[in-house]
Amino acid sequence: MTFAQSHLLGIEPLSPPEITTILDLADQYVDLNRRDVKHSDALAGLTQINMFFENSTRTQASFEIAGKRLGADVMNMAMQASSIKKGETLIDTAMTLNAMHPDLLVVRHPHSGAVDLLSQKVNCAVLNAGDGRHEHPTQALLDALTIRRAKGRLHRLNIAICGDIAHSRVARSNILLLGKMENRIRLIGPPTLMPSGIADFGVEVYDDMEEGLRDVDVVMMLRLQRERMDGGFIPSEREYYFRYGLDAEKLAFAKEDAIVMHPGPMNRGVEIDGEIADDINRSVIQEQVEMGVAVRMAAMDLLARNLRAKPREVLA
Ligand code: NCD
Repeated sequence: MTFAQSHLLGIEPLSPPEITTILDLADQYVDLNRRDVKHSDALAGLTQINMFFENSTRTQASFEIAGKRLGADVMNMAMQASSIKKGETLIDTAMTLNAMHPDLLVVRHPHSGAVDLLSQKVNCAVLNAGDGRHEHPTQALLDALTIRRAKGRLHRLNIAICGDIAHSRVARSNILLLGKMENRIRLIGPPTLMPSGIADFGVEVYDDMEEGLRDVDVVMMLRLQRERMDGGFIPSEREYYFRYGLDAEKLAFAKEDAIVMHPGPMNRGVEIDGEIADDINRSVIQEQVEMGVAVRMAAMDLLARNLRAKPREVLA
């Protein structure tokens, strides 16, 4: 098993064998999660604190269930109502929590780089649950596991990521991961929602769904991240749906057995037609949620093994 990391801050620092190690272990946790009794003691005696400075439903629930199934003591901090509101800095909050000796800190923050900064100030393992538009590593890992199980492999696939690429940490982590595993990545969306210089990442860029979806194996749809937009990036939601919303007609350009993915939360009738999202023959959106718990269990298990193997002081 190859996994030399002390934290999971992004996909960028991971090697392909490390990605495979996480996915292989996650496969085992998928089996555990399908049993009547879903319990392991991989994190027994350890304390996991979830700090979400941004709203989240599925990611926070997923990390909480993952920690509980592995036997950790899990605590959710309601960061919205916390001392941050009273003017405390992120670092002071982190230091205060650190003094309570947590072992795993799961952090979501609206600023790119905030989780990385925090990881330098504490001596426990830090997992990035999404930082601004930078990275969302467990989302990319759960997407990779879903693709690998549906397609039987995670290389040499044509994968389209569609929609609001510019504001999406999910897109960024997926581009990094799928690129490392040697897939062909196409980005499809209006030019206003494409980050500048993105072609340097070794991806193909399209602004037309018909062209971009031709012969792809995987279609990954993204939400319009309105909370990160300041101004008019699209003419109207109606117009956007007409040009970029995934419906049966557009999906017909992809391979016959192409799978449809979405990280959630989904806006039906904006980036995706409700019927496609619910079509169990094409959509793997529910599988993605299932894989999310297993991938987070695997990541926390591996980090905990490394945590136990090293003296705490050298971690920070
Ligand atoms: C994503 C996120 O928060 O970046 N959601 C998620 O974690 N499942 C995508 C989004 O908010 O659109």
